[in-house]
Amino acid sequence: MSNATTMDGTPGGAHAAVQQAPLLEVNGLSVYFDTPRGAVRSVDDISFTLSRGRTLGVVGESGSGKSVTSKAIMGLLPRSGRRIEGSIVYDGKELTSYRDAEYRSLWGTDMAMVFQDPMTSLNPVMKIGRQITESLQLNLGMDRQTAKDSAIGLLSAVKIPAPEKRFNEYPGQLSGGMRQRVVIAVALACGPKLLFADEPTTALDVTVQAQILDLLAEQQRDRFMAMVLVTHDLGVVAGRADEIAVMYAGRIVERASTRSLFGRMKHPYTEALLKSIPKLSSASHTRLDAIGGSPPNLIDPPAGCAFAARCAYAQPRCVEERPPLVADPADPSHLYACFYPVDSAHAAGVRAEAAAHGELVNAHPGLEAFPQTPPPFDPSTMHGGTN
Ligand SMILES: Nc1ncnc2c1ncn2[C@@H]1O[C@H](COP(=O)(O)OP(=O)(O)OP(=O)(O)O)[C@@H](O)[C@H]1O
Ligand code: SF4
Ligand SMILES: [Mg+2]
Repeated sequence: MSNATTMDGTPGGAHAAVQQAPLLEVNGLSVYFDTPRGAVRSVDDISFTLSRGRTLGVVGESGSGKSVTSKAIMGLLPRSGRRIEGSIVYDGKELTSYRDAEYRSLWGTDMAMVFQDPMTSLNPVMKIGRQITESLQLNLGMDRQTAKDSAIGLLSAVKIPAPEKRFNEYPGQLSGGMRQRVVIAVALACGPKLLFADEPTTALDVTVQAQILDLLAEQQRDRFMAMVLVTHDLGVVAGRADEIAVMYAGRIVERASTRSLFGRMKHPYTEALLKSIPKLSSASHTRLDAIGGSPPNLIDPPAGCAFAARCAYAQPRCVEERPPLVADPADPSHLYACFYPVDSAHAAGVRAEAAAHGELVNAHPGLEAFPQTPPPFDPSTMHGGTN
């Protein structure tokens, strides 16, 4: 399959020429793991491109293949017991044939990752400053004093108060939010061109989440990095990604520019994810509606649509046939894998019938009006979507 489309916008100035060629091109990527019960297809034929200065949001429930995708691109998956198919081209180089040593040469300087839990990324018995200077000395060949000056500059850039003092402290002496800032400083230290942020804020409270996401966005802009922002929460990427890929059971089931995804949503799973976004207006920030049921077994996936068992619009065809990823004729860059998209006459009929019986399928403020008058996209009503 080849559905890669470029995420290039229309940038001006000196960056325009650089942004012409995608930094990352993923085409038909599948990842399998051997398990005692058979092969698990964790990532299933996904394609996308990403240019410098742009952010791709990857959204999906637990187990949908978000982390495996990021780790496969970064070369972080163990070699034994896994198989990768497809192509990963980074900066013109095919990475699927890279050896471990070649991959290692990319880490830090070309690609870096910010993980969910800062305590697993930081060494608890090593001073914060040393955790940054080590890679500066190793990867960039800096001398001790230059590395120290750079590290303090980085701690200051990620808005850690009194960076000279913090330089000599241990991770355990900082709050969760401050530790995550240190993790970001470590990731940014050697100036990567591509940053993966894998659920970078889920361990943090809502206010700190927004600050960390703002910090990542600011650093991404300033450094003109490409960023893959992974989350289970559509609200987190709403105001921060240029394009969004929605993953379900290892597949990208919808991919579009953020504006198009929210303005002309196609996939019932995306719609269900939207319903589960916590609203700032809700006192507890609790989810409005969890998606009923659970994802399929990836060892023995269903023949048809993987979402069929949970989908309000499913028809017999959905169980028999696998919906291909197709382009919206009105916007060829908007892709979706569904026979009966949420703006189709079928979906409207299902809604009308449910409403007539007093139970609205997929009831959600604003959603009932799809597709005639999509609700105005207002990220400020979603937690984490403040810019
Ligand atoms: N080493 C492995 N061996 C076998 N299965 C694996 C392995 N790593 C991941 N998987 C499976 O691949 C699927 C995708 O996992 P992945 O970690 O990418 O999910 P995710 O979308 O990142 O979920 P979460 O939101 O919980 O982090 C899951 O079903 C997981 O159990
Ligand atoms: S193909 Fe059918 S089951 Fe799958 S998401 Fe679309 S309507 Fe639902
Ligand atoms: Mg994950």
